[in-house]
Amino acid sequence: WWGHIQMGPPDAILGITEAFKKDTDPKKANLGVGAYRDDDGKPYILPSVRKAEQILFNAALNHEYAPISGDPEYTAAVAKLAFGENSKVLEEKSNCTVQTLSGTGALRLGLEFVMKHYAKNKEIWLPNPTWGNHHQICNMINLPFKKYRYFDPKTNGFDIEGAKADICKIPEGSIILLHACAHNPTGVDPSMDQWRQLSEIIQFKKLLPFFDMAYQGFATGNVDGDAAAVRLFVEDGHQVVLCQSFAKNMGLYGERAGALTLCCGTAEAAAKTMSQVKIMIRTMYSNPPLYGARLVKTILTNDELRSQWLCDVKLMANRIITMRQKLREGIESAGNKHSWRHITDQIGMFCYTGLKPEQVERLTKEFHVYLTKDGRISVAGVTSKNVAHIAAGIHKVSS
Ligand code: LMR
Repeated sequence: WWGHIQMGPPDAILGITEAFKKDTDPKKANLGVGAYRDDDGKPYILPSVRKAEQILFNAALNHEYAPISGDPEYTAAVAKLAFGENSKVLEEKSNCTVQTLSGTGALRLGLEFVMKHYAKNKEIWLPNPTWGNHHQICNMINLPFKKYRYFDPKTNGFDIEGAKADICKIPEGSIILLHACAHNPTGVDPSMDQWRQLSEIIQFKKLLPFFDMAYQGFATGNVDGDAAAVRLFVEDGHQVVLCQSFAKNMGLYGERAGALTLCCGTAEAAAKTMSQVKIMIRTMYSNPPLYGARLVKTILTNDELRSQWLCDVKLMANRIITMRQKLREGIESAGNKHSWRHITDQIGMFCYTGLKPEQVERLTKEFHVYLTKDGRISVAGVTSKNVAHIAAGIHKVSS
């Protein structure tokens, strides 16, 4: 029955981890997947998460099914985190928020919903470049995608003029994907003033803004600041779609805690939308897993744990910022003639180094440093112990 099937390629990001695991060299470093490591290179369990685990353990909860749309206290708490305490959308209950299998699950569910129910132009515009899985999801569900200019390799910054020119040409009523903060893979975000300009054009073109927010807290260490673009769009009257993930900002990678929100304009439209999203969920995975959502809910609804969590996120964001400085210093002090300013200018988990595929290959082969082919490194995998080795490798392959 299955003999005709061709071997598929390894995943561009998760496939790197598979290759890394097979490497036996003691100097190896995995800068492929965006997963935070502590300064000893170990996975990090946030102190706030540890405390929430204790609370859940002591509560001896049962394992009954969750509602199809997830735990309502969880969805209320995560929507408040994204849209803000005094959000009009939440006040008027015009949001349809459901628990999802982390950010990827939110994207898939949200885009499937668009494919089935969106009444305008079923075509999505992605920033160039974007997270590789965005293309894959669109391909899988036959949602046509095109690209708008985003990153300018000449300045290693955001190409505001290119983006505006391209967005102006997008057919009315299409969908536009935006990274809410800490753009993956470039680490380059629009300034608030640039967001305002984008919001205006997107409104003028009647586009549906579809936000991917996988890094709330990681861009600036401030969860409200990192949600500012989403909140601006909502205030400007856009009916945004929002995908949230708690993989990075709570370190809950494997627990798959996320959310999808469709802002629907009215409570009545939100109720109808919810009824249809629930049918999609019920036929896909019935209802979401409990544990990760329980941890998130416990942290967000307990003042003490929430304050602890805000410190935990800041600590992770600050360690990444320090590693950016150390990495840049390491490459520059080796006498490298290129500019490495972008390492410290870019924000969030990733740095888009500008290394070419052949340089990436050398870095992996000769230095056992693993990164994606596009030259993206997860700065979260750099530590004070491996930074000198990584800097030496980057200097060597780029000289
Ligand atoms: C990444 O870009 O490395 C992360 O978002 C992890 C993933 O699932 O690709």
